[in-house]
Amino acid sequence: MGKVLVLDHPLIQHKVSILRDKNTGTNEFRRLVSEVSLLMAYEAMRDLELEDYALETPMEPATGKRLRGKKLCIVPVLRAGLGMVDSFLNIVPTAKVGHIGLYRDPETHLPVEYYLKLPQDVSNRDVFVLDPMLATGGSLVATIDHLKKAGCKKVTSVNIIAAPEGVEAVQEAHPDVDIIVAAMDRALNENAYILPGLGDAGDRLFGTK
Ligand code: PRP
Ligand code: URA
Repeated sequence: MGKVLVLDHPLIQHKVSILRDKNTGTNEFRRLVSEVSLLMAYEAMRDLELEDYALETPMEPATGKRLRGKKLCIVPVLRAGLGMVDSFLNIVPTAKVGHIGLYRDPETHLPVEYYLKLPQDVSNRDVFVLDPMLATGGSLVATIDHLKKAGCKKVTSVNIIAAPEGVEAVQEAHPDVDIIVAAMDRALNENAYILPGLGDAGDRLFGTK
């Protein structure tokens, strides 16, 4: 079973609490999503492999460590995942970026797909799916379905807030996928919104409500 990692670092918890606050405006919300994503990106890259190499300090020869050049791809789920992209690219500037466009049908809460563009060599890359919210899990399961159909073998999901129902759904459909979250919330309401959550991440990020 893939691991579920809840990042309880005080800086992350502090910033996520401000994200939750209904009085936090779009500008600050966007900045905080970016900051939390940067901290999450740092943790998400913990398992990257290193190799030794020879270097010379001004004092003497030494052995350095460098990333083994594993190819990475980040895949934001439109729209809200876009708010996490720049932070990940700051940490891993050579990663390629795929996009998947999904919105939840307001009645069924099932994901409706409207866009998909993945790098041609995505099957050779470790993939990080970015989406601030993991609610029913429908959007993430559909995203991982596509990635696996494209041949991806290692997929990690990075979500700021998750509901237990969503994590369960993803684990059932894709037991090999690791999930990294900043907060595991209580439950979903009747409209499949996360409680206490932060509301509609896309709308808050882009000021569309
Ligand atoms: C939100 C969120 C996820 C999805 C999570 O997107 O960003 O993609 O809902 O819900 P799920 O786990 O129940 O599938 P939304 O559908 O609101 O689209 P938007 O980002 O374009 O607003
Ligand atoms: N999508 C959101 O943006 N928020 C939720 O609480 C659930 C799905």
